[in-house]
Amino acid sequence: MRLHLKIWRQAGPTAAGRLEDYTADDVSADMSFLEMLDVVNEGLVRQGRDAIAFDSDCREGICGTCSLVVNGIPHGPDRGTTVCQLHMRRFKDGNTITIEPWRARAFPVVKDLVVDRSAFDRIIAAGGYVSVNCGGAPDGNTVLIPKEVSETAMDSAACIGCGACVAACKNASAHLFMSAKISHLALLPQGQVERYRRVLAMVEQADADGFGSCSNEGECEAVCPKEIPIANIARMTREYVRAVLRGNP
Ligand code: SF4
Ligand code: FES
Repeated sequence: MRLHLKIWRQAGPTAAGRLEDYTADDVSADMSFLEMLDVVNEGLVRQGRDAIAFDSDCREGICGTCSLVVNGIPHGPDRGTTVCQLHMRRFKDGNTITIEPWRARAFPVVKDLVVDRSAFDRIIAAGGYVSVNCGGAPDGNTVLIPKEVSETAMDSAACIGCGACVAACKNASAHLFMSAKISHLALLPQGQVERYRRVLAMVEQADADGFGSCSNEGECEAVCPKEIPIANIARMTREYVRAVLRGNP
C-alpha cells in the first residue's frame, strides 16, 4: 500500500505545531500502525531528517504508553484496541491518515506526538494506593470476596492509564480513568482504609491539574482500549458524595 500521512510536528512544548505531509510506501497489511511509523522514521533518518517522535513501549496493548489520535479518534478506528495493536489491514491503498497527539491542557505536548502524562501519575500518587500492615502475607483464603465483586474490581483494574478517555472528552475529563482506579480499590476489602480520603484527594488533584468535569458524553467509554464502562463514573460520584457527607476524614 501507498499511504498519505498528515502528521503533527511540533519541535517542543512552546513551539508552534503544524500538520506535515508524508508518504508511506510499501506498507504491508500485516504491519502494526507503529511499525508503519517506524518505517517512515527509518526513511527520514536515512535522508538526515528529524524522526517523528511518538511514544510506545510494550506494543502489546498492556502498558498504555502509545497515544495517537488517528483520523480524529484516540487509538484509531478499532474499538477496544490500542494504537499499537491497530493493524494496517484496517486501511486501503491510497488512504490519507491524519495522526495527532492527545489534546488536553493537562497533557502538554513534549514533541511531535509525545505528550506529558505525568498528571495521571500525580492523581495516582494522591490516592491510588492501599495501606498494608506489616507482617507476614495473610493466606489468600482468609479474605473472602464474592466472585461478582472481585470480577467487577478486576475489570476496573484493566485500565492501562493511556489517557485516551481524556483525549476523546470535550471537557478533557479524567473521570473514566479516576473512576476505574477508585472502583477497583473501593470494591475490595483491601481498599477500605483510604476509601473516602482517596476519592476526595484524587478528584482534588485532577481539578488542580486542569482536567475538566464529566457531562456524560460517553466518548471516553467509546475509545477506551480496555472498554472500561462509564458506570464506573456513577460509582465514583457516589463515593465522592458519601465522602463529602461523612466530613473530611
Ligand atoms: S479508562 Fe480506558 S481510556 Fe482511560 S486511561 Fe484507562 S484504559 Fe485508557
Ligand atoms: S505500546 Fe503498550 S499499550 Fe501500546
